[in-house]
Order: sequence, then structure tokens, then C-alpha cells
Amino acid sequence: MADTKKKTGDIPFPTIESYGKDPAAIPGTDILKDAASLTDAYDFVKIKKRLAKKLDPKRYEHSMGVAYTAAALAMAYGEDMIKAYTAGVLHDCAKCLDDEERDECCKKYNVELTQIEKDHPFLIHAKLGAVLAKEKYGVDDPEILSAIRWHTTGRPDMTMLEAIIFSADFIEPNRKPLICLPKIRSIIFSDMDMALCLILEQTLVHLEHKGQAIDEYSMQAAEYYRKKINER
Ligand SMILES: [Fe+2]
Ligand SMILES: [Fe+2]
Repeated sequence: MADTKKKTGDIPFPTIESYGKDPAAIPGTDILKDAASLTDAYDFVKIKKRLAKKLDPKRYEHSMGVAYTAAALAMAYGEDMIKAYTAGVLHDCAKCLDDEERDECCKKYNVELTQIEKDHPFLIHAKLGAVLAKEKYGVDDPEILSAIRWHTTGRPDMTMLEAIIFSADFIEPNRKPLICLPKIRSIIFSDMDMALCLILEQTLVHLEHKGQAIDEYSMQAAEYYRKKINER
């Protein structure tokens, strides 16, 4: 019999020869008792049904792309996959509100707006999204809500979950194929700081080129990650 133990570490690679035909006899196939799977954590059928009514179809597809990309990044970085997936599903939950609905929600939940958010209302959906994820979708985990809050601008020294949602929003498979994307996608699973740096630089260049205002947090974040990379 071939020695499969060398290739797979402590758990021998399961083969019919080594364990017979009883799947329960194969080490590693028993279910972890305390671990939750995605479907145990939240009622995603209900959440997605509600979300699909609030987003246009393209935005909904984008949200699913962010969710699965975020879950994959969480696997690579040892982060909580369920939190990453949940934040990804809901990160744009306030994106498709009309102006009236958005203003009403901000008033109702006392969402304070900065001048740049008032001047560029599309920025509001991140802050408001965190509020609606809690109030309308029943998510009260502060780490998930914070990842939704910072997904548009980023900020200096992001938590790994914030970094995952911020970057998954940029690289998910439905995104337009920008020139920088293959490079960022190729490094992000092993070098998150470099990927953040490239995403932030690209975002600033794009906004500057279009003559659009740049949020203070994005500028601070770009400076922070630029410095971090240069100090390596
Ligand atoms: Fe967004
Ligand atoms: Fe998004």
C-alpha cells in the first residue's frame, strides 16, 4: 500500500484499502460539535429574500460575489468565515435606497453625516448599511457591523475582517476587469497589506482622475498602508 501519510500530515489520506467501506471509520469525518456552519448562524434564506427585494439584481449578484470572496479570504487568514460571509451579504444593504428613503432612515436612526457624505450621498450607504444590518436584518455582532461600516472608504489599521470586506468589495468576480485586478487577486491571499495598499492607491488615482472628492479616511488609510509597506 502506498504511503499516503507523508503527504497529508497527521491524518492518513482515507482510502478504501485503509479504512474499509464504513465512512464513519475514516478519521476527520466526524462533525465538530461546537462549530457552527453558515446555515446555523443566521437564517440566510430569510436574509437573502429580504435583501433581494431591496437591491437591484446586479447589486444583489455583487453582494453574493463579495460574500463568497470574503469567506474564501477568511479561510486563508484564519478569520471567522461566517462573520465574513454575513458582512459580505449585507455590506451594500443600504445601497439601493432612494434619496427620500435614505434621508428618512438617517433621521430615524440618528445617523450623523459628515460634510463629504452630505456632498456625496453614495458614501452614506456604508454607515447606514451597518445600522440597517442591525435593525432590519438582526445582525448585532459589532465586528460584522464595523466591517460593513468601513467597506467603502477603508480606514488606517483595519481589523482583518474590515480588510477582508473592503478588499472583497473590490476584487469579487463580478467586478469590471480593471488592469490592476489580476495582480491584486494574485497576491491578496498571501499579502493582505500589499493588496490593501494597491486597492487604496488605485481608488485615489481613480477618484482624482474623475475629479471626485476623496474621503479623509481613504486618504489616511492609503498613507497608513503605504508607510507599512515601505517599512518592511
Ligand atoms: Fe458599497
Ligand atoms: Fe459593494
